Amino acid sequence: MGQIFRPSANVYAKVGALSLFYLIILVLLALAVFDRSNLIRRINVPRSQPVPFTHQMHAGVLGIDCIYCHSSVEKSKFAGMPSLDTCMACHNEIQGTFWLQWLTDRFEQKEPVQWTRVTDFPDFVYFNHSIHVKGRGLDCSECHGVVEEMTVMWKAKSLTMGYCLDTCHRTTWNIEQLTNCSVCHR
Ligand code: HEC
Ligand code: HEC
Ligand code: HEC
Ligand code: HEC
Repeated sequence: MGQIFRPSANVYAKVGALSLFYLIILVLLALAVFDRSNLIRRINVPRSQPVPFTHQMHAGVLGIDCIYCHSSVEKSKFAGMPSLDTCMACHNEIQGTFWLQWLTDRFEQKEPVQWTRVTDFPDFVYFNHSIHVKGRGLDCSECHGVVEEMTVMWKAKSLTMGYCLDTCHRTTWNIEQLTNCSVCHR
């Protein structure tokens, strides 16, 4: 019987198999990087909101305290979002633009504004504001960036598990307690 493959075919087959192997690894690596990328996690990506509300104006220029609007941040798990009553305390008086009229109409129709979430942990992560803000005295900017300067809100920190561990939980004195899975996963 004649030879079907020349001896050199062995080399080609080996090189081919190896390249395929490396190609697959490369694709997997690329996917892993992409999955953790800022774009996918929407870090530094401004999120559009139903109303052009700005922190830069309200918290920055006007200097309204964060707690005035996120009133449960020191006493509960949630920071809390302001209801339209909070806005209308001022905007009953401060009027005169399209969006302020839009806000007033919403208020009169008792229709709350559906804000787009910016920072949102998956359900399997437990997070408590009060413990961090009141208990540890952390500034909002440690996790949310310089909100006072943001016209449109974005996620300024990655807030991944690695971020929480590397910036604090694994680098403080009671590592044992703070890195226990049950601290953040319940
Ligand atoms: C302490 C008073 C105060 C509170 C509370 C307040 N605002 Fe304002 N807001 C202002 C002032 C002052 C301006 C600037 C008005 C101007 O530039 O003429 C403003 C401007 C705005 C504008 C820009 C209007 C435009 O068309 O350019 C929007 C939108 C707005 N506020 C929404 C809100 C929302 C939503 C809330 C509640 C979450 C809120 N404000 C709470 C005082 C307040
Ligand atoms: C006048 C009311 C008001 C004040 C004062 C205010 N906020 Fe807000 N905040 C809002 C509103 C309304 C939204 C939702 C719209 C948006 O994201 O821009 C919001 C959204 C946020 C979010 C995103 C929530 C999410 O979906 O993850 C963060 C974080 C936040 N605020 C932090 C702060 C910090 C920090 C301060 C103080 C420096 C502050 N806010 C002051 C009204 C306010
Ligand atoms: C240690 C980090 C950290 C600090 C400090 C922090 N936050 Fe947050 N914040 C988060 C995380 C994480 C979420 C998302 C929580 C979730 O989805 O369960 C969040 C969510 C929010 C939200 C959305 C509503 C909610 O309660 O989920 C607002 C508003 C907010 N933070 C405001 C503030 C303000 C105002 C301060 C300062 C007084 C502050 N945060 C301090 C990490 C932090
Ligand atoms: C300091 C808080 C903290 C501790 C301690 C912690 N985790 Fe997490 N973990 C997180 C956060 C935050 C996320 C979600 C990150 C995100 O939004 O992608 C997460 C996500 C995860 C995920 C989903 C995959 C991923 O990487 O996003 C797994 C699996 C996980 N954690 C396992 C563990 C195990 C096992 C332990 C104990 C050895 C642990 N975690 C301890 C905060 C923590």
